[in-house]
Amino acid sequence: MLIDRFGRRIVNLRIAVTMRCNLRCFYCHREGQMNEGKEMSVEEIAEIAKTFYDLGIKKVKITGGEPLIRKDICDIISSMPPFEEISVTTNGTFLADKAEELKEAGLNRVNVSLDSLREESYRFITGGDVNRVIEGIAVACDCNLTPVKINMVVMKNINEDQIGEMMDFVASINRNGIRAILQLIEVLKLPGLEKYYTDISRIEREIASRAEAVLLREMHFRRQYLIGDSAVEFVKPIDNSEFCMHCNRIRVTSDGRIKPCLLREDNTVNVRGLKGKELVEAIKKAVDMREPYFI
Ligand code: 5AD
Ligand code: SF4
Repeated sequence: MLIDRFGRRIVNLRIAVTMRCNLRCFYCHREGQMNEGKEMSVEEIAEIAKTFYDLGIKKVKITGGEPLIRKDICDIISSMPPFEEISVTTNGTFLADKAEELKEAGLNRVNVSLDSLREESYRFITGGDVNRVIEGIAVACDCNLTPVKINMVVMKNINEDQIGEMMDFVASINRNGIRAILQLIEVLKLPGLEKYYTDISRIEREIASRAEAVLLREMHFRRQYLIGDSAVEFVKPIDNSEFCMHCNRIRVTSDGRIKPCLLREDNTVNVRGLKGKELVEAIKKAVDMREPYFI
């Protein structure tokens, strides 16, 4: 079991497999990776995943860029050790075509970025076609890549007024049991994004007051609210010491560096090509460098 100097158990791993993306969301933080580098091979990714698995990691999330842009994404999934959960964060554009194959390769679930159901609004935010994403979500549900988490980055004057319709959309999927969960994400105040910032605690309080049931999740201490057939979670990434104190994840960049903290680029540990004991040592070194960003 990997435990850092602050007593935080590292049970979640996020591996970026590419920095490439077919969309261009104006707010994209690129998983905190500024340095593009050369993408790891399936074998390199598999070696890192297996070593983390042996060290007690329970869940892995494959991220990007857009992971489904990689032609060998199914090979990446099938090369994973038997984690409790393997998920992918995707913009959903290629999901309708790929969901079945991904399920067969061993994928358990997907997180789909969807900030708006409206064609115009979605195109403004991402440059893409929302209908392909909606279709992708439907196919992912049919293939049991569930629960599908729908990531909505909430932005002032952009989509803040669309939360109700997103909840209705999730409820429409959930008529026969919870298969989709809406995650409302506070926009990270990166330079230039300040004007879109809106405090989602206010929205959380409003939804909490209407919730019929509340579940407490271990991950970052998040609550999940159930209203009718809708399920909603809130993700507040910044200025949030509770968030950092309960952080149980570690990241690997697409060019093979371990990233102890999303918000820092100055303490990565290059593990590309390392194997066996050397890799274990490098992972432990990276874990020792973990410290809460907000205290
Ligand atoms: N603020 C909040 N979330 C972000 N994401 C990307 N950029 C930002 C940002 N600036 C998250 C979104 C998206 C996922 C791929 O990364 O949740 O769905
Ligand atoms: Fe960034 Fe994801 Fe949007 Fe691509 S789809 S630009 S990776 S937020």
